[in-house]
Amino acid sequence: MNAQSVTPLVEAVETAVADAIRRVLPETGGTEPLVRRSDFADYQSNAALPVAKESGRNPREIGGAVAEALDGAGVIAGAEVSGPGFVNLDLTDTAIWDQIASRGAAEGLGVGSPLAGKTIVVDYSGPNIAKEMHVGHLRTTIIGDALARLAEAQGATVIRQNHLGDWGTQFGMLIQYLTEHPEAEWHEVDDADPTANIAALDRLYKEARAAFDADEDFADRARSRVVALQTGDETSAAVWSDLVKVSTDAFDAIYERLGVSLTEDDNAGESTYNDQLNDVVDELVTAGIAVESEGALCVFFDDITGPDGEPVPMILRKADGGFGYAATDLAALRHRVRDLKADQILYVVDARQALHFKQLFAAARRAGWLTGDVEAAHVPFGTVLGPDGKPFKTRSGSTVRLMSLLDDAVEKAGKVIGEKNAGADRADLAELAAVTGIGAVKYADLSNSRIKDYAFDTDKMVALTGDTGVYLQYAHTRLASILRKSGDVAVEVDDSLPMSNEERALALHLDAYGAALAETMAEFEPHRLCVYLYRLARTFTGFYEANPVLNAETASARGNRLSLVRLTQGTLAHGLGLLGIEAPERM
Ligand code: ARG
Repeated sequence: MNAQSVTPLVEAVETAVADAIRRVLPETGGTEPLVRRSDFADYQSNAALPVAKESGRNPREIGGAVAEALDGAGVIAGAEVSGPGFVNLDLTDTAIWDQIASRGAAEGLGVGSPLAGKTIVVDYSGPNIAKEMHVGHLRTTIIGDALARLAEAQGATVIRQNHLGDWGTQFGMLIQYLTEHPEAEWHEVDDADPTANIAALDRLYKEARAAFDADEDFADRARSRVVALQTGDETSAAVWSDLVKVSTDAFDAIYERLGVSLTEDDNAGESTYNDQLNDVVDELVTAGIAVESEGALCVFFDDITGPDGEPVPMILRKADGGFGYAATDLAALRHRVRDLKADQILYVVDARQALHFKQLFAAARRAGWLTGDVEAAHVPFGTVLGPDGKPFKTRSGSTVRLMSLLDDAVEKAGKVIGEKNAGADRADLAELAAVTGIGAVKYADLSNSRIKDYAFDTDKMVALTGDTGVYLQYAHTRLASILRKSGDVAVEVDDSLPMSNEERALALHLDAYGAALAETMAEFEPHRLCVYLYRLARTFTGFYEANPVLNAETASARGNRLSLVRLTQGTLAHGLGLLGIEAPERM
């Protein structure tokens, strides 16, 4: 469904400022209106400064003339010059109330569909078969999901791609080991818990790796097994399929628990591209892009060198004949452009793979697969550290299972919620613990600037106060409660009422929601939306403390304030939804 579009007030102000400048200084070719929110007025424009400089005139004089031209024009109630030539602008109360009424009535909060007609591929999560998802998979999964939802909400056609690590020589090793150890239990270890199966498989994988490193004969048998698998040997293929099934069942259990929108239909693992690899590589060889070097097939780049200044090639085919990660990614990229018709491809992958993506995009540009019309972007992110800020390990020094991290967060959230609701129904509490615990994990991740590392501290992330998911969910329940108590009558906005400062601050912030979404997507930075929502909750609190809603002084004041409450509730729920976080009615 396409969201209706309500033009934000700031755009009306920008137009008015641009017009005024043209009238005051007809000789300039116009200018950017440079309008933003201000602490001293509704908006401030700095446009007079650059035009004054350009025309050699006094900026304060120009600012004054612009203010005079704007004063009392249309939605602008007053304009005044300040400082070296800033123009402070206040809107009429009527214009702001009307805006709240339009947003309240519009489908999708009036944010419109600025990405309509665009196809965006989002490559995220991408865990590896036969290995358990660990803390390292958290960020790609959560950030990727938020970006996919955000793009969809802005009207894009989003194609999610889960680039599972389901191919490679390691599967020969594992399948050979499983065949030689029929007693090894990894299948339906626990019917109720699909992640138990993969935990068992993960252990066997490590045993297989140890055998491979220690036993030359086993290593040889494992290598023949790779060949068997790749040439379509049925027994090997059956075990492989089984491995994939057990693993993806476990991934799906995690996605479900996390409330991540990935489904089986989005699975497009490395194996998907097998039968395209020869063709992809041939195309690159014919074009002279891929060349033989020390037995391997490589792509070299003038501007990509290692710390020693030597060129770092991208290896498509190793000397032993096996295709690698890079060849697969080239095939995937070609497929996404040619067949999926992507306008934009986002790779939400750990910052440590930056070199790989730089090479991938450069090679694809040289091959003509990536043209100016298509944007491919690596969306990198930092590392999740332990609560102490050091690399995240369990007490025994191994990697932290994602499922146990989630268990821990849900348990801690349960305590916080339980203390607040002594005597509440146990089942309700358990559900709330899940909603708040998972929301807390996601918010903690998304609210950190993407590229920075952050410390995973469950105690902090489930706090009821401060910049946490629980705080925002709680703010939402307060809004929902006011609306319940209001009797949910249809409210009409009376645009003739004077507006309080707090009503104004809330209304103008609400009006900026669409811009916050656009900015978040333009920078692939969910943290921006978190900042917006946190500020929304704070601004609402300021409003609610100063302006009684249910006991407002008049019926029309009550109606106007309820319309603000309703729009705040709708915006907060919508924004949390884009972050993949539930907005409960009570807690
Ligand atoms: N399986 C990879 C890993 O665990 C992530 C895949 C990312 N996507 C891609 N197209 N390379 O590192």
